[in-house]
Amino acid sequence: MTSTTWRGLTLALLIGASASALTVAPALAQAAKKPAAAPAHPWLNAKLAADKRADLALAAMTNDEKFTIIFGYFGSDMKPKYTRHPDSLDASAGYVAGVPRLGIPGQWQTDAGVGVATQGSHQDLRARTALPSGIATAATWNPELAFKGGAMIGKEARDSGFNVQLAGGINLMREPRNGRNFEYGGEDPWLAGAIVAAQIKGIQSNHIISTIKHYALNGQETGRFVVSSNISDAAARTSDLLAFQFAIEQSDPHSVMCAYNRVNGTYACENDWLLNTVLKKDWGYKGYVMSDWGADHSSAKAANAGLDQESAGDAFDKAPFFGAPLKADLAAGRVSQARIDDMARRVLRAMFASGLVDHPLKGGPDALPAAELAAHAKVTQADAEEAIVLLKNDGDLLPLVKTAKTIAVVGAHADVGVLSGGGSSQVYPAGGRAVKGLQPATWPGPVIYYPSSPLKALQARYPGAKVVYDDGTDPARAAKLAAESDLALVFADQWTTESVDAESLNLPGNQDATIDAVASANKKTVVVLITGGPVVMPWLDKVGAVVEAWYPGTAGGEAIARVLTGEVDASGRLPVSFPKSVADLPRPKLDGDPKKPGDLFDVNYDIEGAAVGYKWYDLKQVQPLFPFGHGLSYSKFAYSNLTASAAGDKVTVSFDVKNVGPRAGKDVPQVYVGPKAGGWEAPKRLAGFKKVSLAPGASQHVTLTVDPRLLAVWDGKAHGWSIAAGQYDVALGSSSRALASTAQVTLAARSLPVSPAGK
Ligand code: BGC
Repeated sequence: MTSTTWRGLTLALLIGASASALTVAPALAQAAKKPAAAPAHPWLNAKLAADKRADLALAAMTNDEKFTIIFGYFGSDMKPKYTRHPDSLDASAGYVAGVPRLGIPGQWQTDAGVGVATQGSHQDLRARTALPSGIATAATWNPELAFKGGAMIGKEARDSGFNVQLAGGINLMREPRNGRNFEYGGEDPWLAGAIVAAQIKGIQSNHIISTIKHYALNGQETGRFVVSSNISDAAARTSDLLAFQFAIEQSDPHSVMCAYNRVNGTYACENDWLLNTVLKKDWGYKGYVMSDWGADHSSAKAANAGLDQESAGDAFDKAPFFGAPLKADLAAGRVSQARIDDMARRVLRAMFASGLVDHPLKGGPDALPAAELAAHAKVTQADAEEAIVLLKNDGDLLPLVKTAKTIAVVGAHADVGVLSGGGSSQVYPAGGRAVKGLQPATWPGPVIYYPSSPLKALQARYPGAKVVYDDGTDPARAAKLAAESDLALVFADQWTTESVDAESLNLPGNQDATIDAVASANKKTVVVLITGGPVVMPWLDKVGAVVEAWYPGTAGGEAIARVLTGEVDASGRLPVSFPKSVADLPRPKLDGDPKKPGDLFDVNYDIEGAAVGYKWYDLKQVQPLFPFGHGLSYSKFAYSNLTASAAGDKVTVSFDVKNVGPRAGKDVPQVYVGPKAGGWEAPKRLAGFKKVSLAPGASQHVTLTVDPRLLAVWDGKAHGWSIAAGQYDVALGSSSRALASTAQVTLAARSLPVSPAGK
């Protein structure tokens, strides 16, 4: 049966079974009013609660049907190694069969957090809209934009025939060389939690399931299948786990994807502490846990530890563990029937709670309507514009003056497009790849530039000027062009991808040399970085301005041009610290050996514990190159009237922010808290922020409440949070290192439960 007819069958069953679940024809509605026999499929009644529906459906299922919905297949042909399930969508992440007899649809799974991805490089299939990278969206500090972006890619997922989106990457940046930093939400639990939650909410507003991933402590790609992230319970719960906890509370993702790595010696997908204790018991999580592709290592062990659904079990794991092996475990009593029921029930509950059963898919066109793509380009562009961070702007070199007669544009294929991040999250662009023939052409590639040219976007804005491109491969040639120009824009990029880490924090190739040469030739040099995460800048003192544009997505060229020319303000703020050198990191040398991918090894995350990112630099009193929260605007903002008050464990902070500059702009006032007596992992934590948009002269009064867990430490003995009595500083600033004013609150000692939902 093809996937299309399969979905058709589901729809027919739904209509037959539950009139109230759907908009129905009047005659049918009439019939529904008569006292009738109990409906054949009562779980299809959308008026019932998801829990009730899951109970009813489960009760009607055979054991084989329960096993059906806890086992996933791969969705991509990669012959001779993998053959996709015939009912999957081509070149997709995966597929889980449904139970047509009961009106339970299949699950069609697609990556990822920046849009609808395509697996494999054998074909440029499924052109879709790519958001800027996850770290870029975090740099907007704007949950509303994150929601809109999520809603947009979730719509494309649904319109493409998918009802499960493998999105919600939220691993904290402990390692700036991590190849997947671009998929995640930065280094702070509160910011990452807010942004990733908003994206997940947006995705799930389309009645599809979103995951949150990769649970947990999946901090580097080197040795990702074997590395053990070792960390104490308290440090984990105050850092990486706290980010998951915040995001899960705020967005209720229907699925959690457990990670490849081990945590304290045990694989994440068979880690009883992570899955059963923390996630399901402490946080009261009601969704299901799916394994990452190849992350399940056992049947009963994983099931008993809390894994509910094996992903691509036909392809990536050593055996189809949740198929015959788990059935054998059940027969032998190694796993209980109650646990199998719980696994299936969690999957069912998610399907009902998300609305995907009540809102059947209508098919997966290879091409989306041009009008939809055009509308979605605006959404991604808005995200990219607010994500761009103006790191340095000496002498107000930016925004670019309209009087420049000659502008040199150098490097990074800026004549044709913008780079994107690689791996399973790769979205293929409409209009084809802007640069052909790049290596690696296959996994972990391909390397894809989206056809949105910064050069063309700039030329369109400077009709009277000569805007000339040089590819930057020869520093001397680029310098010559720069010397002949009024100003120079050097684009520099860094391709990062799933499965490998960056070798260093330096820009790859000879780009540092090119920037240096151009800056030596023309003081008016602006550097535009298109990177997965932080890079070091040996040339920083020589250049006039630096802009971090991340991977800016489908409309990236246009977004960059609009920020450079000042059509929109520069309003991104760093969601991660940029270190001066790898020597300042908790682990100057990356653990593991990429040449020995099978050798087990440990990463000691107790070195920094919960002092991730800026907290580490604060603790060690090390000056970063650019601090967390930093970013300049083309306008100027002033803060006043900071007050902080405490009522029980509730701290309320309020202040005024005023645009005192010459033009409209956006700012992100940030609130940091810290105990005067110390005792935390680091001197201070981000406790709140607000993105504001203000006309010149306008001001806004902002009130924020602080999540009490951000005032507490984890108390292992009490199995809860504990706020120490004493005085706390509440600081307001424009970055973690630019604090304008400080207020104090005095808190009484308090104990808090592990989570509002847990016990
Ligand atoms: C990645 C996941 C992804 C999955 C399916 C894995 O390699 O780690 O993030 O969702 O593949 O493509």
